[in-house]
Amino acid sequence: MSLEQELKEHAGLAAIHEAAAEIRQAASPDELEAARVKYLGRKSELSQLLRSIPQLSPEERPVVGRLGNRLRAALEQAIGDRRQELEGAELETRLATERVDVTLPGRPFPRGHVHLLTQTLWEIEDIFAGLGYRIAEGPEVETDYYNFTALNTPEGHPARSEHDTFFIDGRPDLLLRTQTSPVQVRVMEKQQPPVYIISPGKVYRRDSDATHTPMFHQVEGLAVDRNVTMADLKGTLEAFTKAMFGEEREIRMRPHFFPFTEPSVEIDVSCMICGGEGCRACKHIGWLEILGAGMVDPNVFGFVDYDPEEVQGFAFGMGVERIAMLKHRMTDLRMFFDNDLRFLEQF
Ligand code: DAH
Repeated sequence: MSLEQELKEHAGLAAIHEAAAEIRQAASPDELEAARVKYLGRKSELSQLLRSIPQLSPEERPVVGRLGNRLRAALEQAIGDRRQELEGAELETRLATERVDVTLPGRPFPRGHVHLLTQTLWEIEDIFAGLGYRIAEGPEVETDYYNFTALNTPEGHPARSEHDTFFIDGRPDLLLRTQTSPVQVRVMEKQQPPVYIISPGKVYRRDSDATHTPMFHQVEGLAVDRNVTMADLKGTLEAFTKAMFGEEREIRMRPHFFPFTEPSVEIDVSCMICGGEGCRACKHIGWLEILGAGMVDPNVFGFVDYDPEEVQGFAFGMGVERIAMLKHRMTDLRMFFDNDLRFLEQF
């Protein structure tokens, strides 16, 4: 009997074409698996046929066995082929959808930069580092002693009330430092002359308008050595001013008062907008105030056991915001703290 005849005789196996079609049309690995279970699984007609062989007559057994195995091999082959096709197709779609085009330009991401105040602070530090100064830091919550008393500003001194100090609740001896000057005392307590330090940091005063904020930044400077004179003070601050604002800038000293320096001065820089001719920025004076300074008062040395007969010193203190405002011709101090990127991105 030919295979075809055998096929026809086994009515159940007529479904073989249907099976082949279903396998070829399986659209996914899941559909293909369902077809495999249906046609080759334990309960499939083919499996049942093969299991029934022992009950057949001795003549039928080899024929049905051969036929059944061929069918099974053919179906397995068809399933294997279809599986490969499906896997190939899946790989194709993944390759197509997940393709990385390495020639595309990268996506730029916003890159921040250092705040103008920090830039200014770094610039000031660089200039003084170049002059041989080291950086010293001190606490922002300070004692009354370091902020005032040891800076020759005893209790009841009128200079204390000028500062609009923030005190700590319930601790009259503690305050937010109103100036970076207390660092002078802290450094001199720990170190013998010569001393060349600058001290950058935040300071606090109860003040708020276009040119005052309750927190702002200062850089304090202190030089103590033998034979230090006001000429050294002037030369140092002139070097600083020219490095900061340009070689063509001049400085001048005006007498002033600070409790911790004697004599005390305020230092002005020739107006960088009009060049000293007089304009609105300098209120037609030709000069802009940039910092306070003076020769360290011998009384301050008394608090740290330095001998004023042996050493002298000069000190200065400047507002970082003020320096940055003058350099960049800003009119409102509050812009530093508004965090408006349109402003900050300009620097
Ligand atoms: N501490 C002063 C202030 O906040 C600035 C200052 C002036 C500091 C003169 C000094 C100095 O060291 O000698 O206004």
